[in-house]
Amino acid sequence: MSRDKPDYDSCPALRTIAMPKDANANGDIFGGWMLAQMDLAGAVVATQAAHSRIATIGIEAMSFKSPVHVGDEVSCYARVERIGNTSITISVESWARSRIGAGDARKVTEGKFTYVAIDEDRKPIPVRRPEIIKDKQS
Ligand SMILES: CC(C)(COP(=O)(O)OP(=O)(O)OC[C@H]1O[C@@H](n2cnc3c(N)ncnc32)[C@H](O)[C@@H]1OP(=O)(O)O)[C@@H](O)C(=O)NCCC(=O)NCCS
Repeated sequence: MSRDKPDYDSCPALRTIAMPKDANANGDIFGGWMLAQMDLAGAVVATQAAHSRIATIGIEAMSFKSPVHVGDEVSCYARVERIGNTSITISVESWARSRIGAGDARKVTEGKFTYVAIDEDRKPIPVRRPEIIKDKQS
């Protein structure tokens, strides 16, 4: 999915503003906060694909490329990378820009988030269930 620049006309899975409460002692935004936004963005796309509850089971290839500043607008773009039996891997890329002036967007993070489709008892269920395939055909 890697982009040279974000397409601000396409809809991100999540867009938010980095707030002072999310900052570390340096005044920049905590990596853990960014990770949480990316997990949420990936979960939006994974839930749509799985048509069920999901749980995050793994995060890989995570990199923090550039700091996020308080007040930055953060956009997380997510797409399905792989569909397994019960799991779905989502590529998530985050871009930040100051709220004033649209020209300075920079990629801040990227990573691959894997989710497992689960039932009401939190047990893994197949992603390609017959009812989903039927829904998508009609
Ligand atoms: C999600 C959960 C129900 C899955 O149950 P499980 O018995 O561990 O699942 P399995 O070992 O059968 O693996 C399920 C799928 O995840 C994949 N998987 C397992 N560990 C993985 C990892 N570290 N990274 C990526 N995929 C992984 C397996 O390959 C399998 O995929 P497939 O069915 O598409 O082939 C269980 O692990 C769980 O409840 N984990 C906690 C989830 C949670 O609370 N997340 C929030 C963060 S605290």
